[in-house]
Amino acid sequence: MPASRRYADPSVELEVGSAVIDLQLAHRSVRQFLDVEVSDAQLAAIVAAAQSASTSSNLQTWSVVSVRDPARKARLAHLAGDQSFVERAPVLLVWVADLSRARRLAARADVVVDAADYLESTLIAFVDAALASQNAVVAAESLGLGCAYVGAIRNHPEQVAAELGLPPSAVAAFGLAVGVPDPAEDADVKPRLPQGAVWHREAYDADAADAHLPVYDERLGDYNRRHGLSGAWSGRVLTRLAGIGSMAGRHTLRETLVRMGLPSR
Ligand SMILES: Cc1cc2nc3c(=O)[nH]c(=O)nc-3n(C[C@H](O)[C@H](O)[C@H](O)COP(=O)(O)O)c2cc1C
Repeated sequence: MPASRRYADPSVELEVGSAVIDLQLAHRSVRQFLDVEVSDAQLAAIVAAAQSASTSSNLQTWSVVSVRDPARKARLAHLAGDQSFVERAPVLLVWVADLSRARRLAARADVVVDAADYLESTLIAFVDAALASQNAVVAAESLGLGCAYVGAIRNHPEQVAAELGLPPSAVAAFGLAVGVPDPAEDADVKPRLPQGAVWHREAYDADAADAHLPVYDERLGDYNRRHGLSGAWSGRVLTRLAGIGSMAGRHTLRETLVRMGLPSR
């Protein structure tokens, strides 16, 4: 996979590469799947890759729930903004920011774990879940599978927790639809910002970085037009972050986390 495709810029070439980097450069979200099962053997390998990610202080504050049951997947798809690909995927992996294991340890040992009450611990759990899940994505793609994240699983965290039987102090961070990609899907490698927009040497230079945005808007605008979508990047960022209207209920997440046993103070 040439890096030029990742950036939609024919002038980009990497001087260093590897099979893993080629796989990563070829990533695209997959939302259309063939009617082919993902086996438990494949999931076991994917979870092993996920568990191989670094984890803060080796706390391993995450869990994953695999969902195959069509009725449960349909209910979760409904809770996640009625996104039909969630239901159509053979497996939905729900990645859980999970401080409950530490809480159970504390209860059994009859000790307090006050630090678990703080925002820092909640962040640790979300970061751990994200690192694990992205390792899982790379592993799944290396097996010829395709994935799409489902952040909308946070639209209704308490209902999702009830659906999955999550204990207190555990919350679904995001879902991941997994299956064999349907080659007929109209999707491609989505160009990313030029490296200069994200990579600062020694110190952050906002002007130099932002000078790369207009050309990216052109490139993503072209990509979108080719795939029947409108608009470019800047406009979409501003719309997505315009206000609570674009948050699908997630603006109340802090209060929800408190109710779910993640005080995050
Ligand atoms: C945490 C997270 C949550 C996401 N949630 C959704 C989602 O709910 N629905 C969806 O269709 N795509 C979702 N995505 C996929 C992104 O839209 C996608 O990764 C991005 O547009 C870049 O496209 P690419 O993955 O094909 O390169 C999510 C991605 C991440 C990392």
